[in-house]
Amino acid sequence: MAFPEAFIDELIARNPIDEVVSQYVSLRRSGSNLFGLCPFHGEKTPSFSVTPDKGMFYCFGCHKGGGVINFISQIEGLDYGDSVRYLAKRCGMAVPEDEQYQSRYHQQERLWAIHKEAARFFHSKLYAPEGRHALEYALGRGLSKNTMTIFGLGYAPDSWSDLTDALLQKGYTQEELRQSGLTNVTKKGNLVDRFRDRLMFPIIDVRGNVIGFGGRIMKKDEEAAKYLNSPETLIFNKRKNLFALNIAKKSKAGHLILVEGYMDAIALHQYGFDCAVASLGTALTEDGAALLSKYTDQVVLIYDGDEAGQRATQRAIPILEKTGLQVKVLKMRDAKDPDEFLKKFGADRFKLLLEESADRVEYQLTAIRKKYDIRVDEEKIRYIQESAQLLSTLSSPVQREVYGHRVAEAAQISYEALKMEVDKAFEQRIGKEKRRQEKIDLAPARNLQPKSRSIRYDNIRSAMAEEQVLAMILKEPALLEQTKGLSAQEFSSPLLGRAYDQLLRRYSQGLEVRLGVLTDMTDEEMSHLALISQRQDGPVNEEALKDCVRRIQAEHRKTTVDSDQDLLAFRDQIKDRKGMKI
Ligand code: CTP
Ligand code: MN
Repeated sequence: MAFPEAFIDELIARNPIDEVVSQYVSLRRSGSNLFGLCPFHGEKTPSFSVTPDKGMFYCFGCHKGGGVINFISQIEGLDYGDSVRYLAKRCGMAVPEDEQYQSRYHQQERLWAIHKEAARFFHSKLYAPEGRHALEYALGRGLSKNTMTIFGLGYAPDSWSDLTDALLQKGYTQEELRQSGLTNVTKKGNLVDRFRDRLMFPIIDVRGNVIGFGGRIMKKDEEAAKYLNSPETLIFNKRKNLFALNIAKKSKAGHLILVEGYMDAIALHQYGFDCAVASLGTALTEDGAALLSKYTDQVVLIYDGDEAGQRATQRAIPILEKTGLQVKVLKMRDAKDPDEFLKKFGADRFKLLLEESADRVEYQLTAIRKKYDIRVDEEKIRYIQESAQLLSTLSSPVQREVYGHRVAEAAQISYEALKMEVDKAFEQRIGKEKRRQEKIDLAPARNLQPKSRSIRYDNIRSAMAEEQVLAMILKEPALLEQTKGLSAQEFSSPLLGRAYDQLLRRYSQGLEVRLGVLTDMTDEEMSHLALISQRQDGPVNEEALKDCVRRIQAEHRKTTVDSDQDLLAFRDQIKDRKGMKI
């Protein structure tokens, strides 16, 4: 999507990066930079920097970086186009829209509308005669009518085309119905309802749009899947949305509860726990965790008590912690899931459970404890060793001591003996880490590769010079006067070449030259360019620049000369052969 370049320039000028970032992060000046706590990963000491002169941000901790558009894109979870629109709105600029966007946005709007219509249709059927058994089923599972209204539950009739017909009648086209995922296409090419005879759970995004459905079967049927969900569409991505977050995001509880099932989430809300959300028929993804971390800094995981649930818990912990979330785990006892627990024991008992929900270390220690029979010496030793491994990963000495005492007590050994074991595990890990680092240091070329695995340098020597050229230009655009002989084709790295090309073109047109104006870059590419740019701190050195240009051109010549030489050699070979024949 191309916005006019001059428009982007004005947009960036009217949205100074320090002002925009300050709406999310409290910044403190230090020299020419501002520092604050990174909004993209959890930290206690500020490593997130904003450089107003360069119009960029960069985090030394998580290595995210870019310009102001990029910042909005990452913090608000918007794509490039919507970030531009967001900033335009912020400073009161009108956006020159292109047709492609108009039509895509229009399509999305139609899909939101169609889903809203479908949700209304299903909800009304819940109270129609044909939906009677569904209503009874829902009531039988303890849902109140109020809850059904809040969640907009519905019933998809046992018919092939009731919904399809209703939507066509409302003026939606066949094509729109196909795109919505609410219909299936038969072999003959006819549209039929996707959901039939199911209790319907609308899935609503944080902005309040209905984006899909989950449909639960009500009969006991071994064959059919219990839930049928909407397929991926232009508006529905199950990895990036969470059920009930539209409601839970307003909760005052101070944490969010993450459960496995729609029914669990709904039951929790009905019993007063308005902070519950559920994943959408998939394991928790990184996108899901990132979404959660926008609304809270503490998550309580309550997965089903069975083995699958416990495994899912172990997998979810690091994904959540990586986004800086504090994780607590509530282990289901005497019931298979929260829904059943609430019905059996009520809200007060659940509240107690919630209050004693363990932090993840406690949870993991308990899991280790259960693996071994510590009455057997050999197993006891393994229990101690494995626990020590876990304790040695904790950075807080207080945590190490508190949990250490607990393990020592359980194993009936002295705390000192356990501590020695923990120290040993720690040394071993450090040793391993050191050896790993040495390996990297011994292979310097590999070390210079970009952190992001999606970006690779083929010619490190040239790429290092290309990085420097870009860094200097971004610091001092007038330097482009002196690199005019250098063309983007001579760059060995396609990414750096693309960036250089855009900047050079902008410079010759008298447009803004800075990191934030670059377009068609992924978040990772932007972060990498920000990293390069932030390295250039001191004044620029023209001699160094010329050196870099020479090096890039020399490396480039090598590749072309090599192929020329191959060609020459080949010609000689042919000549020789001919010569032999004569
Ligand atoms: N799920 C799914 N498809 C299935 C089974 C499950 O998408 N065939 C997803 C649904 O998001 C469901 C979640 O996995 O909510 C958890 O499954 P389960 O515990 O079986 O469902 P509950 O929502 O707890 O429903 P119920 O209590 O009615 O069994
Ligand atoms: Mn369940």
